[in-house]
Amino acid sequence: MEFLVKETDEDTFFRLVLGLVVPRPIGWVSSVSKEGITNVAPFSFFNAVNDYPPVFMVSIGDRDDGSFKDTVKNVLDTGEFVINLVSQENFREMLKTAEELPPHVSEFEVAGLSEEKSKLVKAPRIKESKASFECKLYKHMKVYDMHVIFGEALLLRVDDRIVDEKGRVDFNLYKPMGRLGGKFYVKAFGDGVIEV
Ligand SMILES: Cc1cc2nc3c(=O)[nH]c(=O)nc-3n(C[C@H](O)[C@H](O)[C@H](O)COP(=O)(O)O)c2cc1C
Repeated sequence: MEFLVKETDEDTFFRLVLGLVVPRPIGWVSSVSKEGITNVAPFSFFNAVNDYPPVFMVSIGDRDDGSFKDTVKNVLDTGEFVINLVSQENFREMLKTAEELPPHVSEFEVAGLSEEKSKLVKAPRIKESKASFECKLYKHMKVYDMHVIFGEALLLRVDDRIVDEKGRVDFNLYKPMGRLGGKFYVKAFGDGVIEV
């Protein structure tokens, strides 16, 4: 099959991209509003784009009514956020944080997650996450309708048990989760790992 982009409807092409560009890591972004309300949401249009200084990107669409998602609003208002990473142990909580809530309600509470004070930014880290990058906004740009948020990490807090002093990660302890298309996810550890 071939799909000529300009002759394919948006939903079909989106489904194709989501199902084929896999597995995607999940950037679990915590942020805080100008008014001090904390927020958490997952994004799988996420990746590292520079190794040192570490820079990450998260690509975020608008809501159906055209308004900004809380994450975009908070990051543009405060210039700061935290990218937390998802493991099997906090996967269910991550799913709960994708629900659309009014801006005055914090996903921390709804998902039963604990806020942990960050060292260098106002946005809290997710205590239950095994690794969190405290970021300042490096750049915001629009790619068609998406807000691409680039964050430069100033500090990484990582669970001592999953890394050694040289920065090598033990995937069987980290237990990272990746996103496939639709309702499918993948466990990127155990039998899912091939050593070459
Ligand atoms: C695993 C997962 C990945 C997601 N990835 C994205 C994404 O890359 N971009 C996006 O705009 N929304 C994505 N979403 C949807 C957002 O998480 C959702 O719209 C959320 O309510 C936004 O929250 P906010 O308004 O608090 O920022 C994803 C949802 C899930 C469950």
